[in-house]
Amino acid sequence: MPSNLLVTGGAGFVGANFVHHWARAHPEGSLVVLDALTYAGNLASLGALEGGSRFSFVKGDIKDSELVSSILKEKNIDTIVHFAAESHVDRSIYSPDAFIETNILGTFRLLEAARGVWLKGDGRKHCFHHVSTDEVYGSLNPGDPFFTESNTFSPNSPYSASKAASDHLVRAWHHTYGLEVTTSVSSNNFGPYQYPEKLIPIVIINLLENKPLPIYGDGKQIRDWFFVEDHARGIELVLEKGSGGERYNIGGNNEWANIDIVNLICELMEEAFSVNGKYKNQFPNATSVIKGKAKTLITYVKDRPGHDRRYAIDATKIQQELGYSPRESFETGIRKTVSWYLENEAWWRSVLDGSYKDWMDRNYGVND
Ligand code: NAD
Ligand code: DAU
Repeated sequence: MPSNLLVTGGAGFVGANFVHHWARAHPEGSLVVLDALTYAGNLASLGALEGGSRFSFVKGDIKDSELVSSILKEKNIDTIVHFAAESHVDRSIYSPDAFIETNILGTFRLLEAARGVWLKGDGRKHCFHHVSTDEVYGSLNPGDPFFTESNTFSPNSPYSASKAASDHLVRAWHHTYGLEVTTSVSSNNFGPYQYPEKLIPIVIINLLENKPLPIYGDGKQIRDWFFVEDHARGIELVLEKGSGGERYNIGGNNEWANIDIVNLICELMEEAFSVNGKYKNQFPNATSVIKGKAKTLITYVKDRPGHDRRYAIDATKIQQELGYSPRESFETGIRKTVSWYLENEAWWRSVLDGSYKDWMDRNYGVND
């Protein structure tokens, strides 16, 4: 059983949700978060955990092998859960360098540190869990079967190519050196603490700021949306029961066209404002929502270069072999998400800083 965890990228969106879930579900053992706190990392996402005796945070880079090795030894780590990555497809198109550095070189250095401490050292039971993405499998056409674990890799963006490379490294370190590894593959996550560069939080926040809701191309691209806490539960199950060297898709069979998701969020936001009068005072800028005309903010913008048309994940293996099933329905998950952003204004306001504005200007040219 995993006992002392090192979680890389634990101050990011999925990592922070995993850390909260793990800390709640596992009152014993210890957990170290290693995170470089890039623009996407946010210590406020871990706030409640800080100060706990079982939890520690280290600001550092996964490429720093000496640092990683010392944490593995000093904290007696038996399990690495590797989330740290550059994760945004659009940024990878403008500036791929950081994606190669962190996702490929960073994963390589982490694997080497684990090999050095675990395999050349005390031979302790260990596991390196790698968090991957369905984007490594490429793009589906309408009617194509879902991605399974045995799909060939066909990554199309610098982001997905760098993630595919990291998956291959993890596999090779298992096959060649005998490092115990597992890999999980998930589809588009949504939920609390997601940085507002991704579709769902951009739409929620722009509604509250009465800004355009940018839809790339025709808006008919399909994504398989999955609530982030169910992703955390899936990773937990793989850590507890998964077989070494195996790959597990984790998903909830929930395909939506982008434009349909955006329309739905507009409706949920209008509903939230009509049910709870406090939001009108709290978000006076949300004039289109207040007037019941949220959808008028929908704005079609130029498409993402090389935009993948459809992702859809087949999670049969983890269901049948490990007994996994998601707890949240899409309806309850998306309502919780809208509500979380309404109730956690301080969290998202604090990230709408200079570098966020620069990114919005660069990608959309619409921010004031
Ligand atoms: P994110 O961008 O929100 O967070 C990434 C975290 O990694 C940040 O806290 C950042 O500071 C940290 N980081 C970046 N470079 C680092 C470095 N060199 N050293 C240490 N820390 C570093 O990303 P996310 O959406 O939480 O994704 C986490 C992982 O899950 C990624 O590996 C991603 O590929 C994978 N994934 C994400 C989704 C999704 O929908 N978000 C779906 C499937 C898989
Ligand atoms: O599938 C898993 C992947 O999901 C993860 O590996 C990535 O880390 C994560 O970022 C996500 O990638 P996507 O590119 O699918 O997510 P994003 O939220 O950026 O975009 C979702 C869809 O919405 C996509 O078809 C592009 C579109 N989109 C996105 C933005 C930011 C828009 O139409 N407008 C936008 O402004």
